Amino acid sequence: MKIIGIIGSGAMGSGIAQVAATAGHPVVLFDSNKSALEKAKINLDTTLKKLVEKQKISDEIAATIFSNISFIDDLSAFKNCELIIEAIVENLEIKQKLFLDLEQVVSENCILASNTSSLSITSIASACSKPSRVIGIHFFNPAPVMPLVEIIGGITTDKNLVSEIKKLMESWKKIPVIAKDTPGFIVNRVARPFYGEAIRIYEEGIADFATIDAAMKEIGGFKMGPFELMDLIGNDVNYIVTETVWKQFFYDPKYKPSLTQKRLYEAKHFGKKTGKGYYDYTSPTLSLPKREGNLSSQFPHHRGGQEGLFNRILAMLINEAADALYYGVATKEDIDLAMTKGVNYPKGLLRWADEIGVENVLETLNNLYAEYAEDRYRPSVLLKKMVKEKKKFYE
Ligand code: NAI
Repeated sequence: MKIIGIIGSGAMGSGIAQVAATAGHPVVLFDSNKSALEKAKINLDTTLKKLVEKQKISDEIAATIFSNISFIDDLSAFKNCELIIEAIVENLEIKQKLFLDLEQVVSENCILASNTSSLSITSIASACSKPSRVIGIHFFNPAPVMPLVEIIGGITTDKNLVSEIKKLMESWKKIPVIAKDTPGFIVNRVARPFYGEAIRIYEEGIADFATIDAAMKEIGGFKMGPFELMDLIGNDVNYIVTETVWKQFFYDPKYKPSLTQKRLYEAKHFGKKTGKGYYDYTSPTLSLPKREGNLSSQFPHHRGGQEGLFNRILAMLINEAADALYYGVATKEDIDLAMTKGVNYPKGLLRWADEIGVENVLETLNNLYAEYAEDRYRPSVLLKKMVKEKKKFYE
């Protein structure tokens, strides 16, 4: 079994260490902060005990998983690793410096992977003397629970590495998809309108948080509404990913962050973890003021109340998925798989488009574009072509 190194023992690193150790690998887990490492050890012990209590694993298996992981505070322990996955702070310069330091320690054939959510793999690799060994392996939170893994080759990555890592992830019982090295890869790009368009609808005074959340859950079958989900993810994490994706797309207005979320971020109203976000978790009677809805307003795409706002968000999501396909970010199967297995969408967006009719999606987008005259609502060229040629995503 390959020896796996994990750097960063926070939420993601410790989860990935658990996944690799469960698959039988010896794992070396490192963090520059000793107390973070200590905390990871205690948390892993608690998690494994809970799994035993729930009869998901036996005592022996829990003990093996725990003993497979060495908690280390010295980078030189990585010299025998065959694959290292980095899950440290989301900062390009810090990641580049780490990869440079690692190259001084590791063997010639050691693969260096990053779990980055939104940075370019090619930029991370550019700091290395052997960029062909650098790849993106993007897990979802919590790593031991979420099945999806996005695999990203940068332009300098050895092409064989992608298929090698895909096989390895399958052996870890994960569902791998392959994404091009573009901002947000698949999930963090395609999901942007779920949050951004919901906030926009709120900012326009069309509906309040609870109404929008209810529409997405009751009509769309989403497990959580956008505001509940942002409060769970954290408005700090969600805002930074939005801002990074927008900047990396050279400020394309489609991805523009919202002032509403920026203010919550500035106020440290991160959501559940701080007690306040879009909703107030400290006192149910003190929840944020509701905005009066004027759902059946003069705008054609708002007709039909909750159904109208659901259609607007869904059309924006499908537009993004279609654009990702058009620009070769991933295959249609992988785009659909990514959204269902990475963020629990009830259906793949491209399959959903076929079901409701690509022409209806295009009509909603055209109405929005005509209404607002904003680039944000421009329909994907692919959708226009498909309607013209009467095509579906899946024939
Ligand atoms: P976290 O803040 O929970 O953990 C990061 C850990 O890295 C901390 O324990 C910190 O002490 C350590 N660290 C920071 N700089 C270091 C360095 N130079 N060397 C060694 N250790 C260092 O962060 P989280 O949430 O686990 O995220 C880690 C990475 O995973 C980021 O790149 C993030 O974008 C990505 N990611 C996060 C997801 C999430 O939902 N939290 C989902 C998928 C990817």
